[in-house]
Amino acid sequence: MKTKSVVFDAYGTLFDVNSAAEKCKDKIGSKWEAFAKFWRTTQLEYTWLRSLMDRHKNFWEVTEDSLDKSMRVFNINKSMKNELLNLYKILSPYPEVREVLKDLKKKNFKLAILSNGTPDLLDELVESNKLNNLFDDLFSIEEVKIYKPDSRVYEIPLKKYNVKASEITFLSANTWDVSGGGNFGYNSIWVNRNNSVFDILDFQPKNEISNLTQLLDIV
Ligand code: LAC
Repeated sequence: MKTKSVVFDAYGTLFDVNSAAEKCKDKIGSKWEAFAKFWRTTQLEYTWLRSLMDRHKNFWEVTEDSLDKSMRVFNINKSMKNELLNLYKILSPYPEVREVLKDLKKKNFKLAILSNGTPDLLDELVESNKLNNLFDDLFSIEEVKIYKPDSRVYEIPLKKYNVKASEITFLSANTWDVSGGGNFGYNSIWVNRNNSVFDILDFQPKNEISNLTQLLDIV
């Protein structure tokens, strides 16, 4: 099936979730990377747990709750909280992102983000990185108030673009999100930035790339 639109996960796929803690590494010290990983893992666990418990809180609140726990676990001074949260609003994109989006736009694909992030967070992320004119849509799970990998999330772009799931090429660096999108029917591609191992969740992506530049040879 021919790809009509290219849909990207945001956090970890287009934007580097470790970049907030990395920018504070002089203050946090050598544990910054372990702390960043713990924060991210806790944040995702809270999204899954809240969806399962039917206790939705938006992604910004979940990000703050998971930061509170992570700062306690890693014994990080409370005075750093606002700085880390403010940096999380303006995470850096991966180096190839802008050029790849520009090239895809020239090929006339609909380009969108589909993310757990709130509409405000996604607006600020793309605007602060001057990527706003490259996307047709920023889809947020706030439309359905349940987190990935619930199928209702992956349905969002179908209605808007009037396409079949198989006409969407979906990119995520998060293995479970690749499986979620693939299970739904997307042409789901794994952006394996860190040479990791894929999940065993009864779905294997047809394509695996190590950065987004390689996408241009596939679509
Ligand atoms: C997102 C998370 C899963 O952007 O990275 O939806």
